[in-house]
This record gives sequence, structure tokens and C-alpha cells, in this order.
Amino acid sequence: MSPPPTPLKPPSLPPHSATTTATAFLFLLFLLPLTTSAASQSCSTQHSSKFSCPPFTSIPSFPFSSYPGCGHPSFQIQCSFPHAIISINNLNFSLLHYEPNSTSLLLSPLTPSPQSSLSKTSCSVQHSLFFIPNRPISLSGSPFRVSDSYCSRLSVLKPCQPPNLPNCSHCSWECKLIKNPIHLLRDECVSKSHQDSQQGCQGDVLGFLDKFLKLGVEVEWDEDQDSYFSSCKTCRASNGFCGFNSSDPEKAFLCFKSPAAQIREKGVNRIAILCILFLFMCFLIILFVATVIYRSRQKGLASEEDPTIVFLRRHRSAGLLPPVFTYEELGSSTNHFDVKRKIGDGGFGSVFLGQLHDGRIVAVKYLHKHNSSTAASGNKAFSTKSFCNEILILSSLNHPNLVKLHGYCSDPRGLLLVYEYVPNGSLADHLHGSTNLYGKDRLTWNLRVDIAVQTAMAIEYLHFSVVPPIVHRDITSSNIFVEKDMRVKVGDFGLSRLLVCSETTMERDDSSGGVWTGPQGTPGYLDPDYHRSFLLNEKSDIYSFGVVLLELITGMRAVDQRREKREMALADMVVSRIQMGLLHQVVDPILVVDGEAVEGVDAVAELAFRCVATDKDDRPDAKEVVAELKRIRGRNRLVGGGAGVLRSSNSSNVVVPES
Ligand SMILES: *[C@@H]1O[C@H](CO)[C@@H](O)[C@H](O)[C@H]1NC(C)=O
Ligand SMILES: *[C@@H]1O[C@H](CO)[C@@H](O)[C@H](O)[C@H]1NC(C)=O
Ligand SMILES: *[C@@H]1O[C@H](CO)[C@@H](O)[C@H](O)[C@H]1NC(C)=O
Ligand SMILES: *[C@@H]1O[C@H](CO)[C@@H](O)[C@H](O)[C@H]1NC(C)=O
Repeated sequence: MSPPPTPLKPPSLPPHSATTTATAFLFLLFLLPLTTSAASQSCSTQHSSKFSCPPFTSIPSFPFSSYPGCGHPSFQIQCSFPHAIISINNLNFSLLHYEPNSTSLLLSPLTPSPQSSLSKTSCSVQHSLFFIPNRPISLSGSPFRVSDSYCSRLSVLKPCQPPNLPNCSHCSWECKLIKNPIHLLRDECVSKSHQDSQQGCQGDVLGFLDKFLKLGVEVEWDEDQDSYFSSCKTCRASNGFCGFNSSDPEKAFLCFKSPAAQIREKGVNRIAILCILFLFMCFLIILFVATVIYRSRQKGLASEEDPTIVFLRRHRSAGLLPPVFTYEELGSSTNHFDVKRKIGDGGFGSVFLGQLHDGRIVAVKYLHKHNSSTAASGNKAFSTKSFCNEILILSSLNHPNLVKLHGYCSDPRGLLLVYEYVPNGSLADHLHGSTNLYGKDRLTWNLRVDIAVQTAMAIEYLHFSVVPPIVHRDITSSNIFVEKDMRVKVGDFGLSRLLVCSETTMERDDSSGGVWTGPQGTPGYLDPDYHRSFLLNEKSDIYSFGVVLLELITGMRAVDQRREKREMALADMVVSRIQMGLLHQVVDPILVVDGEAVEGVDAVAELAFRCVATDKDDRPDAKEVVAELKRIRGRNRLVGGGAGVLRSSNSSNVVVPES
């Protein structure tokens, strides 16, 4: 069994791995929205159920937020009782009051830890320093600034002389505050302080600060100066929630989509992606299934059917193919290739007479497969392919003077060709056979010319009407078959190519127009040029046909061992006789009337002489041969009168062979 002609290439992406990739991708796709939506969800809802965050009466809105990452980074509050706590520059403040939609806050510094407040008490015995922070309040770097009114209130605060100082080596911060209370609010208020004011001398500076801070320090901010506010406006316009990147040191602004919009948008996205994925998976599945089916079919074809048939099917629709016979069918039709049924034997194989199931009588040609010379086991696939090619060509040929190919059988046991059976023997049988079977004398000159014309027309058809042209390569009188009505059909065309093919010969066939072949052809008919070039072409057929013409003229065999060596080949003999002007010596006696050859013999001999020219360029082509023979036949009919009615052979008592 030969391998299938074209092995299937594996698909570039194995379907299983692609499917896994797609599944993983799908899985990630579902995870992604879950992680990102968490922050935005909190920014919008903010555990509203157990809300308690004084002074806010409702959920703090932008810029405030009690959830990290939401709102403005400088307005992060911690909900606690009695006041929410806001942290500015690492200093905690109680958020005493906030008017909604205003841009100011009332803050009060909280005490630090209880431990540090204890140590503070030692510094000021008579005052509780509960609210006084242990360092200056700095608002730099925040959006806040102390309102003017509170700055002025501090700036007019002056200690009375001499200040009642605690142990300054121990309580340096308190001493500093008592000497210059404005230090509590650094930076801004210092520049604005009104040194000219005479009033406001406070003996108990720390006590005053204590009360003062309990009332709270008002801070304000300018929304126009802060990019967060403008960014949030555009974010809110698109139903977003304002926040920032808490892991980013820059605390970059972030706009979270509202959950509804998010779900809507993501949903649309997800549906689109899902659709694409679904289609993609479908495509993969189809691809996979198709590959599996195609592979199994390939395997099935290769293992179950003969590659010959596979090839033929692929190249032509089954309806146009010649019927395929089974080996068994042909075996039984020929009585298992019974020797008694053998009606011919040649270089290519043996011919058996067979009767098909439908009653048709056929000639079954059993080709010797081992004859395919170099096309041995390694080349088998090729020889099979070329065999198929030839079958295609031969079965498509249709000419009244060519034997019809009925069908074929390709089997490991042998190649079989089934031809129409031409029942009346070959031309060789008629010319050289035993007199009682056919009788040479029945071959009148007109009949012989007609046979020549039909044979030439078959050759012309092979050479000029078939693409690519077929070189018969074995035109002999044994390959010209005679029907009951004495019409002829040429057989065995193309067989040499069927069998003696190798890859190189096919290539040469295309390039040089000739076919390199192993030794073949029939002695006596073989183009002498072949021994020089080892190429057979159309002109080689013309040579062989020339020899057949000479057979028709002389009635002698193409090769006759009984003749002397120089004249063993008919062509050599007749050519030399013609050159000596002694043609009449070799003309078939039947064609000689009153010592002279009948009209037209000379003309045909002249044509044959040209056909067997040693140089192939001197030989005429098939078209020319047909034209010349038709011309001769037409003249014969004019001259020969009644003898020319060959076509209606049944009515002619001259030509009917046996009835
Ligand atoms: C501010 O208050 C928080 C808790 O409300 C506390 O963890 C933090 O230490 C306080 N910061 C200072 C500087 O006291
Ligand atoms: C705050 O402003 C918003 C619009 O910007 C308005 O809907 C809301 O009623 C205002 N609230 C108060 C208390 O003025
Ligand atoms: C202040 O405290 C230091 C030790 O901390 C002490 O030596 C000094 O006497 C105290 N001064 C007064 C006036 O009490
Ligand atoms: C937040 O900031 C970090 C650090 O700069 C960055 O890696 C991350 O991508 C940011 N996240 C978003 C949602 O912008």
C-alpha cells in the first residue's frame, strides 16, 4: 500500500491548548470587575445603616469622607463621639461645626494621649491644658487656612508683665506660649498680627487659650485653588464618585463610576467580550471537529481505497471516470485468466477474452506490473499516479478508429485494462496469418488504402487532437484491429507511458517534447533515430506507420528472419529496392495485374518511403500523411470504379471477409 499522496499538515494551533487558554482568559475576565468595584461601591454607599458621625446629619459628602480612598485626601474624617476627628499635618482636631455647602470648618485641637496630658499638668498647675496642643498648629501643605477673625483674636492676645511662668527648663513650650501666644498658630497669623493694639493683656494666657480653643478655630478653604474640587465636578457630572489613590504618595484623583453605570458599562463590555469569546470557541470547536473528520476520512480513504481510485476521484467526477472493475469480477469473466482465453501477448502484458456479467465481450489486458522497470517499490506512488494520469487520458479519448477503453482495475495483484473487443483479428492476422482463417487475397488494394487512411487518422487524432499529444510508440500491424466490416481500430496506445514511467521521464516529457523510455517498441517498427537519441516522439510513430504502409504494399512481415540479414527489416529492403527502381519486385503479387502494380501503389510507396526516412525531420507529420492518403484514395475511386465502394462493405461481394 502506498502512502496517501498529500499528507495532512497539522493545524498551527492545537485546538485543546487554545481552548484552555480561552477558558483561563474567561475566568480572569470575571475576576477583574470584582476587584475594582469594591472601592467605588464603598464611596457611594458608605455603610449608611449604622450612620453616626456628628456634626454631620447625613452621610458626609465630598470633600468629606470617612472611607479611606474616597472624597478629598485632606478631608478624611474619623467618625467618633462627641465629634468627628479630622487630622491636619498629623495633629488631631475635633470637627465642632460644619455648615453644609460652606467652605469653612470649626475645629478644636484634641488632647494627645492621656499620658502626655498628665505630664503637661505639672507645667501648669492652675490650668487644665486639656485642649492646648503640645506644638504649633501648622496648616501649611493643607487646603486650610485660619480665618482672619481668629488670627486677629490671637494676635491681640498679650501676656501681662510679669508673666506667671512655670519652670521653663521643664515646660519650655508653655513658657513660649505665655510669652508669645501667637506661636500657637504658626505662619499665617504671625504676619497678620497687630502689634499696635494696646488692649488684650492676659495674665492667664494659657487659661485664655484653653477657653479660646474650646470655642474652636475656624479654618476655611478655597475650592477654586484646589484641583480635586474641579476634578470632582466633572466626575459627578458623569454620575461618578470622587476619590483618590490611597496607595499613591501623590494621592492622585480618581473618579469611580457609579455601581449602576459601572454594571451597565461593564455588562455591555462583558456581553460583547462573551459573544466574541463564544464565537471564538465555536470556531475552535468547528476547526477541531473538521480536523478530526478530515483526518479520519484521510485515513479511511488511504486504508480502504486504492490510491489509484482516490487520485482519479480527486481529478474527475466519478461519473466521467471509466468504470472500475474488481479483480475478482475480471478474473471470473476471463475464467481466472485461462490460458485458452488468451488472445494476445505483448511486451506490456497478455490479453484475455472476457465476458462481463452484462454479456459484453471485452478484451482484458493484464499489464505486468513488474514491467514498470525502475518504478520499483520506492517509486510506486509515482508510478501509480502516472498510471492514473494515463487512465484519465486514455478513457477520455474518443475516435472511431481507436479501441475504446471500457474500464480498468487497479489491484495489488496487477493492473488490468478493459477494452472493447474487436472481433476480426488484427491487420497482421489478415496480412500474414494462415490463409484459411482470414485470407490475404480479400485485402484488395482499395481496402488496404482505406485501412491506411483510418490508421493515419487515428494517429493524427493522437498527435493533434489530444492535449498533451500521445505518442503511440507501438504502431504495428498487430496493433491495428479489424472489425467485421473491415474498418480498423488502433489499440494499445499510451501503454508504454503507463508502464515505463519514472519521475524523470515525466519531466523530460514536458521539457523536451520527447519521452525517454527504456528499450521497447517492436523490432522492425522502431524508429532508427531512437538508438541515437533514446527519444520517441510523434515522428517515431510516423516511421512505424511507414513500415505498416510497406506491409500493406508488399504483404511481407516487418521483420522476417528468413530474409537475408541486410533485408531482414522490411523498411531496409523496400527502401533499397525503391532506390534501385525495383519496387515492383516486392509489391504483393495480389496487387499486380498484368505485370504492373495497380494504380496508387507507387504513390503510397513514395509516401511510405518518406515516412521511414532516417532523419525524422524528413518525415511528414500525421496531418500530411492523412491528406496524402485521402488524395490517393480519391484518385483510386475515380479510376478503380466499383472496387472503391468499401464503406458499404456488406453489399460488396469483394470485401466481405466471412459472413
Ligand atoms: C489621632 O487620632 C487617632 C485615632 O483617632 C490616633 O490613632 C492618632 O494617634 C492621633 N494622632 C495624634 C497625633 O495624636
Ligand atoms: C448644597 O448644594 C446642593 C447643590 O450643589 C443642593 O442640592 C443642596 O440642597 C445644598 N444644601 C444646602 C444645605 O444648602
Ligand atoms: C526648675 O526645675 C529644675 C529641675 O528640673 C530645678 O533644678 C530648678 O530649681 C527649678 N526651678 C525653680 C524656680 O523651681
Ligand atoms: C495607585 O497608585 C499606585 C502607586 O503609584 C499605582 O501603582 C496604581 O496603579 C494606582 N492605582 C490606580 C487605580 O490608579
